[in-house]
Amino acid sequence: MAIAVIGGTGVYEPPWLMDPAPQTVKTPYGTVEIVAGHCGPHQSATWFLNRHGSGHRIPPHQVNYRANLWALREVGAHRIIATAAVGSLSPSLPPGSLVLPDQFLDFTKSRPTTFFDSDSQTVVHTDMTHPFCRQLATGLAAAATAAGLEPVAQEGVYVCTEGPRFETLAEIRAFRLLGGDVVGMTAVPEVVLARELGLCYQTLALVTNFAAGLAETSLSHGEVLDLVKTKRATLTEIVGRALVDPRLEETKWCECGPPAAPV
Ligand code: HPA
Repeated sequence: MAIAVIGGTGVYEPPWLMDPAPQTVKTPYGTVEIVAGHCGPHQSATWFLNRHGSGHRIPPHQVNYRANLWALREVGAHRIIATAAVGSLSPSLPPGSLVLPDQFLDFTKSRPTTFFDSDSQTVVHTDMTHPFCRQLATGLAAAATAAGLEPVAQEGVYVCTEGPRFETLAEIRAFRLLGGDVVGMTAVPEVVLARELGLCYQTLALVTNFAAGLAETSLSHGEVLDLVKTKRATLTEIVGRALVDPRLEETKWCECGPPAAPV
């Protein structure tokens, strides 16, 4: 099952890819730049997509999520590992923690969140009870353990906000009451679109800060980037090891479904 990686904030290069070759993929939603290569003893095809573009110039609410997911399916990916920077809503997840969310709460506002919006199609409602891929999560957690790296929280509720602003103190209080564990700006609609296409998807989230009002100081993007820099090597090592983890070579056992309708 071929895996693609979507690199989030601070993860702009795919050091695990052998023979990396930049490629432009045309989709009905626009063109997408990816890097194609292979990795592991079986030389498995692997792709890398830099979510925020070169120079981190695309803000989360303007990422062309539909084009990105379409392009990855087009080249042959079946599974997607996505990295993401997040704020923490919980004292038990201090900056530097790694989380594999198993649920999300969607507070985005202005993004196209589906492929099923054309007049010519019948109405499609995709099951989203368990949005993230537990087989990918297991592989990522095992990769972290095998590398002797810090433990990775294997579940958590990812609250997705519209951005690009950070949250208010009241929003963070509300998200905590609702059961949120971490807050970020990109997992939705990425995970939803992946499911619509029948692709397995798992976010590996790096906590870069306590969310608004939970730390003494106000938030800045610089603080997020600084923390990611200190953990970039860890993130890339976990992803690199997961890409060649035998658990991911096994037959699919996760419950991620096929597309709800032909796309
Ligand atoms: N809020 C939203 N997105 C984020 C944060 C945050 O505190 N930190 C990193 N990405």
